[in-house]
Amino acid sequence: MTKLNGFAKGEVINYKQWTDNEFSITVKSEIGPYVAGQFTKLALPDENGNWLRRAYSFVNSPNHKLGSNCMEFLIIDVPNGDLSPKLGQLHLGDEIYVGEKPSGFMTLAEIPETATNLWLLSTGTAIGPFLSMLAEIETQTRFDNVILVHAVRTRQELVYQDLIEKFKQDYTGKLTYLPIVSREKHQHIMSGRIPDLLKDGGLMQAVNLTPDTESSFFYLCGNPAMVHDTRDVLLELGFQKHLRRSAGHFSFENYW
Ligand SMILES: Cc1cc2nc3c(=O)[nH]c(=O)nc-3n(C[C@H](O)[C@H](O)[C@H](O)COP(=O)(O)OP(=O)(O)OC[C@H]3O[C@@H](n4cnc5c(N)ncnc54)[C@H](O)[C@@H]3O)c2cc1C
Ligand SMILES: NC(=O)c1ccc[n+]([C@@H]2O[C@H](COP(=O)([O-])OP(=O)(O)OC[C@H]3O[C@@H](n4cnc5c(N)ncnc54)[C@H](OP(=O)(O)O)[C@@H]3O)[C@@H](O)[C@H]2O)c1
Repeated sequence: MTKLNGFAKGEVINYKQWTDNEFSITVKSEIGPYVAGQFTKLALPDENGNWLRRAYSFVNSPNHKLGSNCMEFLIIDVPNGDLSPKLGQLHLGDEIYVGEKPSGFMTLAEIPETATNLWLLSTGTAIGPFLSMLAEIETQTRFDNVILVHAVRTRQELVYQDLIEKFKQDYTGKLTYLPIVSREKHQHIMSGRIPDLLKDGGLMQAVNLTPDTESSFFYLCGNPAMVHDTRDVLLELGFQKHLRRSAGHFSFENYW
C-alpha cells in the first residue's frame, strides 16, 4: 500500500449511531491545530489498497474537555458512496487516518465585527461545524442572538438534542434553535425547506426575529442545492455575499 502523506494514524474511541445511516465517531489522533467550524480529511484504504479520503467537519470545539486531539465527526452513510459506508462499519479501537492540516474559512474570525445576530443555516450533517462554533465562549459573548436552523428529511435526523439543550441554557435566551423536517409532518416541528421559508417569512416568524443588513450575518452549510437557492433568496432580500476585501452578510460551505 502506498504511504499516505499528510495524514496521521488515529484510533476510533467512540461511536454513536443516530439512525440507520447516520452516526458520529470520535477519533484520537495527533494532528495540527484547528478552530471551530473547520474540517479535516479522514482516510481509509479500499479493497485494492488505494486510499479513500474525504473532508469531514469537526463537531467539537478544539477547546473541549477531551482535548483537541479527540475529534468528533457526524457522518451520513451515502448509499453507494466510496468512503462513508466504510466509516460506518468502524468499531472502537479501529485504525483510521486523519489529515494533519485542518482547513476551512467558515469560522468566527471571518464574521464581520459589526454582526450581532448570527444565523446558522444547515442541512443534514452540516449542523456539525455549527455545533463546534456554538461550543465556543466567543460565540456566547460576541452575539446578541444566534439562530441555529437545522433542516432534515425526518425527525430522527434531528441529532444532538441534549447538546443543543445544554447550549440553550448556556446562552441564557440568546440561542434560538429551529428544527425543520421536510418529509414528515409533526405537530410542533416546522416543515419545508430553508430558502422557501426565508422567502415567505415563515422562518423569521418562527424565530421571532427579522434579519437586517446592519446587524445580521448568515452562514449556510450542507446540501449545495440548499446553499444555492438560499443564496438567491438572500440576494433578493438585499443581503450581499461576504468577501474578505468587502464585508457582506453571508458566506457558505458546500458539502459536495
Ligand atoms: C468541507 C466539507 C466538509 C464536509 N463535512 C462532512 C461531514 O461533517 N459529514 C459528512 O457526512 N460529510 C461531510 N462532507 C462530505 C464528505 O466529504 C463526503 O463527500 C461524503 O462522506 C460522501 O463520501 P463517499 O466517498 O461515501 O461518497 P462519494 O462516492 O464521494 O459520493 C458523493 C455523493 O454523496 C452525496 N453526499 C456527500 N456528502 C453528503 C452529506 N454530508 N450529506 C448528504 N449527501 C452527501 C452527494 O450526492 C455526493 O455527490 C464534507 C464535504 C466537504 C467538502
Ligand atoms: N435522510 C434519509 O433518511 C436518507 C435515507 C437513505 C439515504 N439517504 C441518502 O443520504 C444522502 C443525504 O441525505 P440527507 O437527508 O442527509 O441530506 P439532503 O438530501 O441534503 O437533505 C437534507 C435536507 O435538505 C433539504 N434540501 C434538499 N435540497 C434542497 C434545496 N434545493 N433547498 C433547500 N433544501 C433542500 C432536504 O429537503 P427535501 O426533503 O425537500 O429534499 C432535507 O430537508 C443522500 O445521498 C440520500 O440519498 C438519506
